[in-house]
Amino acid sequence: MKNFKDKNIVITGAGSGMGRCMSIELAGKGAKIIASDINKQGLEETVEMVKRNGGTIHSHQVDVGKETAVFAFGENVLKEHGHVDVLINNAGFALGKINFKSLKMNDFHKIMDVNFWGVVNHTKAFIDNLLTRPEASIVNISSLFGIIGVADQVPYCTSKFAVKGFSEALRMELMNSNVVVTCVHPGGIKTNIAKNAVHYGDDETMDKFEKRALRIPAEEAASLIIKAIRNKQERLLIGPEVYMADSLVRTSPVGYGKVLKFIMDKAMQ
Ligand SMILES: NC(=O)c1ccc[n+]([C@@H]2O[C@H](COP(=O)([O-])OP(=O)(O)OC[C@H]3O[C@@H](n4cnc5c(N)ncnc54)[C@H](O)[C@@H]3O)[C@@H](O)[C@H]2O)c1
Repeated sequence: MKNFKDKNIVITGAGSGMGRCMSIELAGKGAKIIASDINKQGLEETVEMVKRNGGTIHSHQVDVGKETAVFAFGENVLKEHGHVDVLINNAGFALGKINFKSLKMNDFHKIMDVNFWGVVNHTKAFIDNLLTRPEASIVNISSLFGIIGVADQVPYCTSKFAVKGFSEALRMELMNSNVVVTCVHPGGIKTNIAKNAVHYGDDETMDKFEKRALRIPAEEAASLIIKAIRNKQERLLIGPEVYMADSLVRTSPVGYGKVLKFIMDKAMQ
């Protein structure tokens, strides 16, 4: 995408973290931001930050895990703004440390509804319109945990692997079209992801995880994602740990687990 001036950009989960930072940076580049989040207060803060910088932003409170709400949002956006050039499927949440045996199935369903079905339903809501634009992008935020499987994170990993699979298959269908599909795999980014996680009582591990694993500033991650959209880059890894994990998985598709467990245990000590 040559530039972002006057582009209509939908960003989900814009009330915090990377979604907020992308909203601010893209509005600064002249885009019209159509921001959504379930968290009204966070969304209002983002709106104020964007407006303070002289940017244009419209906000909608939407639960991306609710299919009917997502399709209603899609209809409203197209009625109000006419078209969409970029869709950034960013909203998501994590679960605290919990093994599959003890997990509440409700939480597994909820994380799939938000992290996976939210992405699919938004894409379905906007795909026809995106295909009419001169150039368009769909950006799906997966994770390091969409490349490697980790213990005590089965639902989150499942949702993020699903986002990767959806993005890769859709990319094949859209290969000769105007729509670029970008799948992003961030490592540890300093956002509210740990604070906003559904905790299972192991707050000490979450605190440690937040302090030791979430290192990259959200602004830096947002800038890398925006650069990837501009360059029509279809796969983006953010953080040295993601590059390392990605090559480990290729070298040893099953054995990578033991190496990673050793490294992660050391990092959390
Ligand atoms: N921070 C990291 O280290 C990291 C790493 C890999 C992937 N990710 C992914 O990046 C994306 C952005 O997360 P972040 O790190 O900025 O975290 P964050 O918690 O700061 O922001 C996530 C936003 O999504 C919103 N959200 C959550 N559930 C929602 C729902 N049902 N409907 C609408 N909005 C909802 C939250 O209210 C919040 O504003 C997520 O998909 C996350 O899984 C984050």
